[in-house]
Amino acid sequence: MFRRDEDGRARLGDTLIEELLQQAGCGTPAYLYDIDAIRTSARALRESFGQAPHLVAYAVKANSSGSILRALVEEGCGADVVSGGELALALSIGLAPKDIVFSGVAKRDDEIDRALLSGDSGIYAIQLESLEELDRVAARARSLSRAARVSIRINPSIVIDAHAHVATGHDAAKFGVLRHDLGHAWEALAIHPELKLVGLSTHIGSTQTSTEPYLAAARIVFDIARGREARSGPLEFIDCGGGFGIDYGQGCPVTPADFGRALARALTEERLSHLRLVVEPGRSLVGSHGVLVASVIQTKYSPNSGRRWLMIDAGMNDLVRPALYQARHRIEPISAPPSAALASYRVVGPICESTDDFGVYDLPSEPPPRVVIRDAGAYGFAMASQYNGRSLPAEIFVSGGAVVHISPPTSTESWIRSRLES
Ligand code: LLP
Repeated sequence: MFRRDEDGRARLGDTLIEELLQQAGCGTPAYLYDIDAIRTSARALRESFGQAPHLVAYAVKANSSGSILRALVEEGCGADVVSGGELALALSIGLAPKDIVFSGVAKRDDEIDRALLSGDSGIYAIQLESLEELDRVAARARSLSRAARVSIRINPSIVIDAHAHVATGHDAAKFGVLRHDLGHAWEALAIHPELKLVGLSTHIGSTQTSTEPYLAAARIVFDIARGREARSGPLEFIDCGGGFGIDYGQGCPVTPADFGRALARALTEERLSHLRLVVEPGRSLVGSHGVLVASVIQTKYSPNSGRRWLMIDAGMNDLVRPALYQARHRIEPISAPPSAALASYRVVGPICESTDDFGVYDLPSEPPPRVVIRDAGAYGFAMASQYNGRSLPAEIFVSGGAVVHISPPTSTESWIRSRLES
């Protein structure tokens, strides 16, 4: 966990971030992750389900690094994957197919085949996101002579209070099957014996800071499950998706455990305790436990606008969330005495795009050599690119107060080679 000691020096867990960078022998930009804190967050979520059978299917897209996946698997997590690549990665890490669910609106045939052919009976569930996909999965199962374990991802028509780009459970979203279409889904399932409906799922979006919409969606799915079970026999699970918010600096009134507890309670109230609960958290397991450290390259002053810029060596190619969702991450000096005089800086990266802009921050007027961009463990490196001929940043994994693994930055030479060969 990131913290600042009494002298104003940034630490990850107990160790100074400067010291970790030195240990790793890495320059900047570099991501640092606290593996112990990631483990603790997974454990806290799992414990919140009490006696209720559950699967925490970590959304691999949030951060797919091997060190993190291995730690989460050791903590008893499964995986929610959204591509054949993520599926292959989860299997390579050693996850059993029965601990993997596969979401995504447009799975290719080869990706469906991979899911169907994993292990003896395929993965835990291919989550169907449309009637059209239902037919396609049935066709692949028939052609491979396999039974497909499937769930239907229901779009419950719920709007969450979040950036429009991360809301997925409303009528205009491309995700899931609307309740209106469920009758057709049941009919299609009836004529496709190769599809075994084992669960129902939903995921209404990310950065949720209240449990209410999440529970409202869950109750809709519980209701549908009850009806389906009465007509066609038992299901195995209900997957309510991920989307638990974290504190990006404005506070977050709920914890992932609040979602887990509320879900377990609601399942009992609905007399559906025979079903296993699945959740698909990504951000909430890793987001707060990663930081992106950048060096300050220079300042610049623009008298016409009065803007004072702080130009750092991390850009939107390293962390795209501010450019893509107007997200605000806390940016702090790596070390500053609490009494340092502050000035207002617009912090920007080196990329030739106006959106390469992290926002305005109060930072020491005498700029620090380095800054820490906080809460960057989720959708940070995972969305990084080599735009502008840049390297992918280093990743440094920390446990027990020391660096346990380093993934070096990609080299400029490898970028040049790949472009020359293209
Ligand atoms: N399940 C499904 C089906 C999803 O599509 C997602 C995220 C998750 C679970 C995990 O959601 P989480 O718990 O991490 O919120 N790049 C954006 C977030 C996009 C999320 C996409 N789907 C960001 O940086 O905020």
